Amino acid sequence: MPKLTVTMRDGETRDIEATIGSSAMEAIREGGVYELLALCGGCASCATCHVYVDPAFSAVLPPANEDEDILLDASPHRKENSRLSCQIRIDAALDGLKMEIAPED
Ligand code: FES
Repeated sequence: MPKLTVTMRDGETRDIEATIGSSAMEAIREGGVYELLALCGGCASCATCHVYVDPAFSAVLPPANEDEDILLDASPHRKENSRLSCQIRIDAALDGLKMEIAPED
């Protein structure tokens, strides 16, 4: 199982395991990080699963699609490495991925 590291808003980090084929959002919540609200359940309509992704993995992740890009644009906290964690599909290449929970909008 790929291992992920999540940095929470208070700076605490947590190592979690993710199931291949799940989303990063699901892995984060199943790992007990509930400050990632994920209110829409992963259908790319709420942006409450916003994370900053380790730039070292930028080349591994597929680019954001148009819906994700529009939602992220609505956030005042968007950065170059912003992603919606519900749109990140976990595979073996993401083992070691680090993510930081973005501030609440
Ligand atoms: S969970 Fe709502 S956009 Fe990701």
